Amino acid sequence: MENLKAIILAAGEGTRMKSKKSKVLHEIMRKPMLGYVIDTAKACGAESVCVVVGHQAEQVQQAIQEQDICFALQTERKGTGHAVKMAADFIEAQKDILILYGDTPLITAETLQAVLEAHHAAKNSVTVVSAMVDDATGYGRIIRDAAGNFIKSVEHKDATETERAVKEINTGIYVFQGAALQSALGRLQNNNAQGEYYLPDCLEILLQDGERVGAYIAADETEFFGVNSRVQLAEAADILKKRINRKHMENGVTLVDPANTYIGADVVIGQDTVILPGCVIEGKTVIGADCEIGPNSRLTDMQIGDGVQFQSSTALESSIGNNTTVGPFAYIRPNCHIGERVKVGDFVEVKNSNIGNGTKIPHLSYVGDTDAGEKINFGCGSIMVNYDGEKKHRTTIHDGVFVGCNVNLVAPVTIGENSYIAAGSTITRDVEGNVLAVARARQSIIQGWKEKRIQTKKSES
Ligand code: UD1
Ligand code: CA
Repeated sequence: MENLKAIILAAGEGTRMKSKKSKVLHEIMRKPMLGYVIDTAKACGAESVCVVVGHQAEQVQQAIQEQDICFALQTERKGTGHAVKMAADFIEAQKDILILYGDTPLITAETLQAVLEAHHAAKNSVTVVSAMVDDATGYGRIIRDAAGNFIKSVEHKDATETERAVKEINTGIYVFQGAALQSALGRLQNNNAQGEYYLPDCLEILLQDGERVGAYIAADETEFFGVNSRVQLAEAADILKKRINRKHMENGVTLVDPANTYIGADVVIGQDTVILPGCVIEGKTVIGADCEIGPNSRLTDMQIGDGVQFQSSTALESSIGNNTTVGPFAYIRPNCHIGERVKVGDFVEVKNSNIGNGTKIPHLSYVGDTDAGEKINFGCGSIMVNYDGEKKHRTTIHDGVFVGCNVNLVAPVTIGENSYIAAGSTITRDVEGNVLAVARARQSIIQGWKEKRIQTKKSES
């Protein structure tokens, strides 16, 4: 949708969160609530977004550093109309302005698209989004005439008994034609129960101007769920989790226990992948087809190919190629590029390393700051000694190397193609290709030692 800009109100104090952190920065699946609203605004075509900040403004600005985002400061909280006025410079007469809230993260782009379509089809100057609810207490009410035409939106505190009986609420979300918003904002007054400049009053003002004003009744009222406390944060997270999990299942992903599976909003998962219970899959993670993930695994910002078996492990900010197996109890730390058909087995930690296709690290190893080629075998207990107490150094291991059990490779060091490192060696110098390197004390046998020891003990007593 062209010609659309969005204003997100986020100046409120959020006292009920009992937090030093701004309410809108509280996270659901590692993403701030405000981030969801920004992404939704962009997903329905907003070319730029203005966030109205007030309380903890600097903190919010620092946390949200994205392109196409600007900020307007509301130093005093004088109501939703006043907050939008703070973004006056952002409002363009020729554009549509979508109004959203930083603490209402469940609103979907699909719903907003439908609102925008209705707004354009009816040629409205403003369309307010409403919803039918059982308990309307506290909300603004949408008042219509006998024919069903919109008359006004009245705040709970200002409403008469008859008006309070109305079940159609103002969700607080609107699409304004820019020029209409500009003209109405200038005429808002604060002679009401709360002494605030109410944004909903713009609707009545525009109607009196003879403009077209519509109320679009949205089907799913959970989308407008606002978060004011940690209890509500958990409730919102639960609604979102169910929505995300359902989408993956509909796309052909098996979730063995969806109630116990936590998948971030931006995660992509391929068909016939099975997610076992207790997984937390976050950030920009992409998982291919035919994988098995879990149980009890964490994946953050991971790129995972097809046919990967990832068992009871943690992996962060790295990539894993097709048909590789990981775990159980492996720890893949940031910046690893692990190839295809690799085995990263139990109690293996890999960090800032490249691991070539077909390489095996089956158990109990630390591979850090290492460039490992293809078809290497790391024996049990291999350690890449990358840290000298001051600096980290890299280890290079060429294709086909066999690293014996309990080997230390002290970086910086390079091991040539197809060489063997004898078990128990501590390698401090480069090793050329096709050799056996042994760096350990030779075994010696002391004959008659036991007999001698018995004699010594006897003579002492
Ligand atoms: C508002 C609507 C009400 C609607 C309800 C839906 C008004 C006057 N009322 O009421 O009709 O039913 O939302 O949830 O608009 N904010 C600012 N600066 C301010 C005031 C508010 O940034 O000066 C922000 C808050 O941070 C919050 C949002 O605007 O995110 C809503 O403000 P709030 O005072 O909670 O409005 P409601 O009383 O919920
Ligand atoms: Ca209020």
